Amino acid sequence: MLLTSEPARKGLRGVLNPPGDKSISHRALIFACLAKGRSRITGLLESEDTLATLGACEQLGAVIERIGSEILVSGTGGKLSPPLGGVLEMGNSGTAMRLLAGVLAGQGFDCTLSGDVSLNQRPMRRIVVPLELMGADISTTAQGTAPIRIHASGSLNGIDYVSPVASAQIKSCVLLAGLFASGTTRLSEPRLSRDHTERMLPMFGVELPAPCTVNGGARLRATRFVVPGDISSAVFSLAAAAMVPGSSVRVRGVGLNPTRTGFLRCLEAMGADLAIENQTGSATEPVGDVRLNYRAGLKGIDVPEALVPDMIDEMPLLMALAARVDGVTRIRGAAELRVKESDRLAVMAAGLHELGVEVEEYPDGIDIRGGAVNGGRVASAGDHRCAMSFAVLGLRAAGPVEIEAAEYIATSYPGFSADMEQLGARMQVGERDE
Ligand code: S3P
Repeated sequence: MLLTSEPARKGLRGVLNPPGDKSISHRALIFACLAKGRSRITGLLESEDTLATLGACEQLGAVIERIGSEILVSGTGGKLSPPLGGVLEMGNSGTAMRLLAGVLAGQGFDCTLSGDVSLNQRPMRRIVVPLELMGADISTTAQGTAPIRIHASGSLNGIDYVSPVASAQIKSCVLLAGLFASGTTRLSEPRLSRDHTERMLPMFGVELPAPCTVNGGARLRATRFVVPGDISSAVFSLAAAAMVPGSSVRVRGVGLNPTRTGFLRCLEAMGADLAIENQTGSATEPVGDVRLNYRAGLKGIDVPEALVPDMIDEMPLLMALAARVDGVTRIRGAAELRVKESDRLAVMAAGLHELGVEVEEYPDGIDIRGGAVNGGRVASAGDHRCAMSFAVLGLRAAGPVEIEAAEYIATSYPGFSADMEQLGARMQVGERDE
């Protein structure tokens, strides 16, 4: 599918309720599936990625129904059943695959986790290594990629794992396996990655005895859970407003967990007129409204490396924004971008270059010099966030920007172009790429 984003003729204006947070939605479904009793979830993201998790939870024995705006999950109480045919298809979702691998490593049945072409190329050794240390019987392809075959395990043992990567997927995989292991499982990481698992487990009745630590045998209890709006989706309309003169956009009910707000801090450092309002100080997941009014003269920045994990999914968008601010934006310490849904450094560098932007790519980052941007056609490489980032840049290009393989936007934000159009953007969906 080809998405065409037309240069904006006027400022973007309006109020949006972003879709539910993807990371939190995956966890809400998986935790509710493991819990005893019926959980009630509101605000769940219903996109291709989270529907893959929902389908997997059903196959593992959870009974899931919708009543009005609520999703009701009757959990398994931790007694999962083997999926029919033995294979769970995770589509494009790395979170679904890695978190469920942790859950399945400690079960008494065999199971295979597989994904689409992109997911089956992403590195899985990073979870196989700790799971094997725990005693799991698990294998991947020779390249260390999915399909992941997990064999029935006698029992897992708890470990103290020092993760080489700041990754919430590795962390959550190990902690979830730890629930089915004997003893205590603890993980440390080079920098704090998003901490939704640690914040949400206590809501499902599992207290962590120490930070990033779980006791084996802990039982989850059903709960009522409200999923906040996804900051990783909200940022597209905020960045659009930061770029298009005359814009004023408010996004409501956005999750503002500090491990996710790096992009907002960068917007401020670039000089954007941004405010957070109506913040509710929930101990679990802080939520608020974010307002952004266009202000001229945004400047390029050196992105502090410490901020990288807090905005890892927003990096493609930052690269698009950097193309339309004054001066150079430098990103380093972001080699993880090469193993996301695509090699995001390479895909963004190629697309920006195609649109006439001056870029220099490094193994772990990129330099982008802001200036004029041409219209043209770019490849999204089937990466939802790259596709949406190019669509936002199209609003401030000299001509329309056409984005290939834009159907992947539905993995995280099916309503993206409708929301952008509601703010006054012009985005057209064509049937074919050719
Ligand atoms: C996620 C963690 C991040 C992020 C991904 C969602 C999660 O990946 O990029 O989109 O929900 O745990 P890593 O854990 O690989 O950094």
